[in-house]
Amino acid sequence: MESRTSELIDELAHNHTLDLEGYEHLVTHQDDEAAQRLADLASAVRKDVYGTDVFVRGLIEISSICKNDCLYCGLRSSNASCERYRLTPEQILLCADMGYELGFRTFVLQGGEDMWFSDERLCAIVASIRERHPDCAITLSMGERSRESYARLRQAGADRYLLRHETADPEHYALLHPAAMSFDNRMRCLHDLRELGYAVGVGMMVGSPYQTPRHLAEDLAFIDRFKPEMCGIGPFIPHHATPFADRPAGTLEQTCYLLSIIRLIHPTVLLPATTALGTIDPLGREKGVLAGANVVMPNLSPVDVRQKYLLYDGKICMGDEAAECRRCLDLRMERIGYHVVVDRGDPRP
Ligand code: 5AD
Ligand code: FES
Repeated sequence: MESRTSELIDELAHNHTLDLEGYEHLVTHQDDEAAQRLADLASAVRKDVYGTDVFVRGLIEISSICKNDCLYCGLRSSNASCERYRLTPEQILLCADMGYELGFRTFVLQGGEDMWFSDERLCAIVASIRERHPDCAITLSMGERSRESYARLRQAGADRYLLRHETADPEHYALLHPAAMSFDNRMRCLHDLRELGYAVGVGMMVGSPYQTPRHLAEDLAFIDRFKPEMCGIGPFIPHHATPFADRPAGTLEQTCYLLSIIRLIHPTVLLPATTALGTIDPLGREKGVLAGANVVMPNLSPVDVRQKYLLYDGKICMGDEAAECRRCLDLRMERIGYHVVVDRGDPRP
């Protein structure tokens, strides 16, 4: 490891921040030694805050219908080969009830930007979950909506919102999204969510098309500034029916390296070892946790709709019932010395 890299790692561990050039240097000087040093420091910081606890979120994929046309995503509206489905409110509540029995205390409702989920309908669903499971946190991941909509959902009982920023560079954003979407609106959404009192999750794909080290440095600087309560990062994985079908996937190594840096920037952040990470490597989620992640998000969606919610090719756990995934993750975490806990896993100040 080069001495400048080593100095920057020490500075980051000590001050929890670097300038843009510092982040860019770390991104461009990744090697095994730097990665191991960052992972050790990140693990130590995470152990101080969270011990060996790993939080679980029950992911309910409520709709594969999406009006957007993001170039990287298998659910993009111009993918005519994607079979679309939408869970009924009753099905969603059943998933949550089953999840509760399995020890989940956070439910994440995720879906494409499906206009059927009007404020009225989504608020009713949120309010029912809130009433049936008052001790649970409700997270929404339903894309860009108006401030008014976010306010109504918050009022109905939603606690957290995941909306990855995707990239902190406006020009890169424009290369990943159709002209109808804008970086500014993304940022508007994130600031509205924060002001409305949500715990907010941002995030980006690692190795997305056109991404440069500078872009990743900007992502890190954005995470440093915005201090999101949650941050979802996973490798980009190509989907066969998108314009990025032939692009290479992001790597396990770079994703883990960035997880460690993010843990050091923001010691209390809730950081998932994502399904995408588990998809590019059979032990991806374990390696993510060992690099500094502290959340896993198994799927609670009904097994018969799973294949229709394909953001990328090769996604894992397609045929596994929620109970199997839950057990599987318990074992996977135990094997590396961590413990999945029955807890809302609220953000720490
Ligand atoms: N590879 C990896 N992650 C993807 N996402 C969408 N498409 C892909 C892909 N091809 C991520 C995006 C989105 C989240 C729900 O899934 O970052 O915000
Ligand atoms: Fe789904 Fe392992 S987490 S089968």
